[in-house]
Amino acid sequence: MGLITPEQITWVERITGRPVENTSLIQSLWNDYGACFRAKLVNIDAPVVVKCVTPNPEAKHPRGWQSNHGHNRKVRSFQIEQYFYGNLQPLTHLNCQVPRSLYADTDGDASLLVLEDLDHLGFTARRNTLSLSEACVVLKWLANFHALFINTRDTSVWPQGGYWHLATRQAELQAMEDGPLKKNAKVISDRLHNTPYSTILHGDAKVANFCFNQCMTQCAAVDFQYVGQGPGIIDVAYFLGSALSEKDLDESTDFCLDRYFEWLGQALPETMSQGEKETLISQWRALYVFACADFHRFLAGWSPEHWKINSLIAQQTQQALNQLNK
Ligand SMILES: Nc1ncnc2c1ncn2[C@@H]1O[C@H](COP(=O)(O)OP(=O)(O)O)[C@@H](O)[C@H]1O
Ligand SMILES: [Mg+2]
Repeated sequence: MGLITPEQITWVERITGRPVENTSLIQSLWNDYGACFRAKLVNIDAPVVVKCVTPNPEAKHPRGWQSNHGHNRKVRSFQIEQYFYGNLQPLTHLNCQVPRSLYADTDGDASLLVLEDLDHLGFTARRNTLSLSEACVVLKWLANFHALFINTRDTSVWPQGGYWHLATRQAELQAMEDGPLKKNAKVISDRLHNTPYSTILHGDAKVANFCFNQCMTQCAAVDFQYVGQGPGIIDVAYFLGSALSEKDLDESTDFCLDRYFEWLGQALPETMSQGEKETLISQWRALYVFACADFHRFLAGWSPEHWKINSLIAQQTQQALNQLNK
């Protein structure tokens, strides 16, 4: 369990054409579907990071949700991540840095991704929580990423970004207690995804998926299994909830949104008029409470005792529900 297998190493050797000198496990993948590990290849100075997926369909999900549906969604997520690294990562730049993919391969449900090692590029710091100024580093990354893909329609990524969107979470919806959030789940989801301004979302922009330089002034992102279409504010709401203390979130959400939209405004393409940029920004800002409510809906069905269900997310949800009733 959670080990790097000889088969995985052979696969890396075959695809890179070089013997693997040594390896160290970073973490096993969700539900032991494979491993993420660092590898040193013979005669290459820079180490690489390998994400090797070798799913075992017999495996049981820790929360008992294991189903074919869950398995298929996971396998598809790894395929979409490969598509992202092959086709969209090359468009990213220093203001929304993503490691390059050096080699990629698939074999049925199994897949292999060999990435540049961000630690080797100076992104050696990881955090579980962030101060406000550190969070701004990620907000800037998100603004640049969302601006880069504004109005891009790509049918090879998820039609809706994020792992919790309603279309793929019907079992969790059924499990939810009856109430206004459950009743309005579809209206909230539609409100978010029917916005005229769509981009490509990271889709799992929690703090654990960002790697920082030592002085916490730059970041790069990993983990693109849930990239897909949507308004950028979905990533922002999910990120802030993952990274900030409840106190900072309570006192400084507006400050964070202001910074994000300021950077977004600066990074949006010049082909957009000032008026269009302003419309986009005011529409996405108004969707913030809906993004919070939509994530709350997922948590309430999936894990009703989850620590992320706090009084703030409940307040945002209430605001979204109030707006629906207007
Ligand atoms: N290219 C990379 N360089 C350095 N570290 C990486 C790289 N890719 C992943 N990691 C580290 O490994 C962790 C797990 O990778 P990730 O793709 O997020 O897998 P999972 O889907 O299991 O969350 C990341 O949180 C990050 O710390
Ligand atoms: Mg991750």
